[in-house]
Amino acid sequence: MSAAMRNLCFLLIALAGVCVQIYQAQDIKYRCVCPVPAKFAVNITDFRVIEKRSGCDKTELVVTVATGNNSTAERCLDTTKKFGIAMLKCWDNKGRNETRKHECIRKR
Ligand SMILES: *[C@@H]1O[C@H](CO)[C@@H](O)[C@H](O)[C@H]1NC(C)=O
Ligand SMILES: *[C@@H]1O[C@H](CO)[C@@H](O)[C@H](O)[C@H]1NC(C)=O
Ligand SMILES: *[C@@H]1O[C@H](CO)[C@@H](O)[C@H](O)[C@H]1NC(C)=O
Ligand SMILES: *[C@@H]1O[C@H](CO)[C@@H](O)[C@H](O)[C@H]1NC(C)=O
Repeated sequence: MSAAMRNLCFLLIALAGVCVQIYQAQDIKYRCVCPVPAKFAVNITDFRVIEKRSGCDKTELVVTVATGNNSTAERCLDTTKKFGIAMLKCWDNKGRNETRKHECIRKR
């Protein structure tokens, strides 16, 4: 590969990265993060609640799960199903207190 070609590639890759970041930022702000939420999840280590907003007319529950690989992944939970409802209710009952969050994470 020529140097010019390589430089062009780097430029394109950098541009693509910027585009992805802009896209993701808009995604979070204007759209639902979770198109197809799951009914439940296992190995939950953390979670966050994203309130209804313009572009997404539902409250979203995003959980962080341990994947067994020393790594984690984010999953969305359905807030209209038992598991999600219970988690949101617990979180509300704790006054949405960050330091008590772990009390709402059921180890399974
Ligand atoms: C473990 O990590 C590798 C590389 O990061 C990934 O491809 C694989 O899906 C992971 N395995 C699990 C069970 O998450
Ligand atoms: C959940 O954690 C257990 C024990 O660490 C592990 O064996 C299992 O593969 C995990 N499940 C998933 C879906 O990552
Ligand atoms: C997980 O991380 C610890 C500490 O970094 C390391 O000792 C261990 O081998 C890792 N386990 C896996 C399955 O990657
Ligand atoms: C959150 O919970 C901790 C421990 O119960 C308590 O000390 C703290 O005052 C609470 N914070 C708020 C903002 O309620």
